[in-house]
Amino acid sequence: MLREARPDPVTVTDPMEGEYASTQLPGRDTRDNGLAPKPPAPGGSILVTGGAGYIGCVLTQRLLERGYRVRILDRLYWGEEPLAGFREHVDLVVADIRDVPATALDGIDAVIHLAGLSNDPTAEYDPEANWQMNAVGTADLGRACVERGIERLVFSSSCSLYDGLPAAMYDETAELTPHGPYAESKRYAERELLALQDSGLCPVILRFGTVYGHSPRMRFDLVVNTFVKDALLQARLSLHGGGWMWRPLVDVRDAADALICAMEAPAEVAQGETFNVLHSNYQIRELAMLVAGSVQLLGRQVSLEEAPAPPLTRNYECSNAKLAGALGLVPCRSVVEAVADLLSSIDVDDRAMLTDPRHYNIRWFELMHEVNSRVDQFGSVL
Ligand SMILES: NC(=O)c1ccc[n+]([C@@H]2O[C@H](COP(=O)([O-])OP(=O)(O)OC[C@H]3O[C@@H](n4cnc5c(N)ncnc54)[C@H](O)[C@@H]3O)[C@@H](O)[C@H]2O)c1
Repeated sequence: MLREARPDPVTVTDPMEGEYASTQLPGRDTRDNGLAPKPPAPGGSILVTGGAGYIGCVLTQRLLERGYRVRILDRLYWGEEPLAGFREHVDLVVADIRDVPATALDGIDAVIHLAGLSNDPTAEYDPEANWQMNAVGTADLGRACVERGIERLVFSSSCSLYDGLPAAMYDETAELTPHGPYAESKRYAERELLALQDSGLCPVILRFGTVYGHSPRMRFDLVVNTFVKDALLQARLSLHGGGWMWRPLVDVRDAADALICAMEAPAEVAQGETFNVLHSNYQIRELAMLVAGSVQLLGRQVSLEEAPAPPLTRNYECSNAKLAGALGLVPCRSVVEAVADLLSSIDVDDRAMLTDPRHYNIRWFELMHEVNSRVDQFGSVL
């Protein structure tokens, strides 16, 4: 496909108030993933659940750049600081997805649903909470949309649903046998939303590969970002079991654009459809080499080491052909591009930031639980 050059970063007037300026890095973002340059119906109001998270912060910036009004519903597990770059341009509802205030849906034209526990370790840490948030909470949100006449709901599911199947390249029609609380809750949520089509919902399911790249709310517990952090802190990357496992991956900006594309797509092509969202399938070993090379360009040494295989490995591949064919979206930001962006967006010598438990979902929940029990006992911190 012939790609047109992306125009320079734009400054747009936010429909709610003030000016919102893009924070794109100049010179890097020159390829086009196929997202239409302008929205079909500018100025709509979008509810982004989980908008204060890793994908949500990047998505919110991109929605504002496109002239949408954005309301974020989030219980702010990682704090409000990641919203700093656009806080005055969004409406913020601090609430739990298990108990959404009816007013959160007032005046909303479409919902992009990201809130919930976002990986296997946190889901396994408290499977019941995970079920209530990811499975029941999603189904309830779908029903609330139906009651309020909100048709379009885009849901962030996961390519990890393909994990455990025999080695092959899977598309969205694969027979799934989800294993573990996270995958099971995502699959249940997908089915519940699809069943609501009879009641008038227009759900679109996106199954994301593992996401990489920089966000105002950083996660260093995702494979590429973890390698960047390890290369910086330890100058060493471990290849567990040789690192031969396959994983589908996608850049966070492409993930955000896929959500927007799915939200803007005509119902004839998107309603009730499921799309895998990935740039490519990579072997972990290959990722380590790409990250090591990028960090070496900063003049730092990085070595690769073989390490024993962990008891459980995730190994799966899937196709993004349907996303390209039906929605015209072709994720275009490569791992090397994203790693270069990431390295230039953070302070590579800031060990406190790189090790902050906020950037590792499971570590943060473990810490919050520990703090919670101590605060509970006395009713206050001091
Ligand atoms: N990042 C990935 O690699 C990836 C891959 C596949 C799917 N996904 C899905 O995309 C979505 C977003 O992932 P992310 O990487 O941005 O995760 P994240 O953990 O950074 O963000 C999740 C956001 O949801 C909020 N949240 C969590 N539980 C909530 C609740 N009960 N009520 C209200 N808010 C709540 C958190 O405060 C956070 O801001 C998740 O649903 C995740 O399962 C992510």
